[in-house]
Amino acid sequence: PIIAAVVPAAGVGSRMQAEIPKQYLKINNKSILEHTVNKLTSMRELNTIMLAINPEDELFNTQQFNMTKVRTTEGGKERADSVLNALNALETLNPDWVLVHDAARPIVQIEDIQKLIASCFEKQEGGILAAKVKDTIKRGQQYSEETVPRAELWQALTPQLFPYQALKDALKTCLSESKLITDEASAMELQGKPVLLVEGRSDNIKITTPEDLRLAAFLLKEQEE
Ligand code: C5P
Repeated sequence: PIIAAVVPAAGVGSRMQAEIPKQYLKINNKSILEHTVNKLTSMRELNTIMLAINPEDELFNTQQFNMTKVRTTEGGKERADSVLNALNALETLNPDWVLVHDAARPIVQIEDIQKLIASCFEKQEGGILAAKVKDTIKRGQQYSEETVPRAELWQALTPQLFPYQALKDALKTCLSESKLITDEASAMELQGKPVLLVEGRSDNIKITTPEDLRLAAFLLKEQEE
């Protein structure tokens, strides 16, 4: 089966409070986007890597990676719009599966991506990397109203792997109905489609704030040793 990867990389990263979008910040001499894309291009399981880039982006041209398998398309208003644009751009390839991975998660380990692919192929169902919630979780505004039992709580990570056509249909429907979706799995759940939870490493963080950046530098250095 053909698997294409989709990397939404069109965000502006406002929570990072940096001058440039966070995917272009450098860690150990390489941008976050370069770290992420290099991992995906090195995987022979992945046929094409489709990047969604902001139309106003001026930094993509400075990026250095092996472009053999990399293609680009325009990002959209929200993350889901960017992913749908990328799926539409894959129409001629018509892959069987699509693996969506945040540009902002460069720490993901290839073994975890392979574990996700193997688990989904075995069941012939879509799935995501996820980590069990470790903290006690509260719900409330200024005061805690309740403690949410955490036994069944997971943190959704990426990659998220789904059948190409089913994910495209699910995203289209959710966007046309203005449903709030923050990942691909939520669109599939709303369509009543299965989402397999595949336990992944919890250090596969999404770089969002300056604290995350320092942690990511440490983790990437460790991987490169
Ligand atoms: O903003 P957040 O951290 O949730 O973004 C997750 C990923 O989605 C990032 O890699 C970001 O670049 C991407 N994104 C996008 N298009 C948007 C918003 C976010 O591709 N409109």
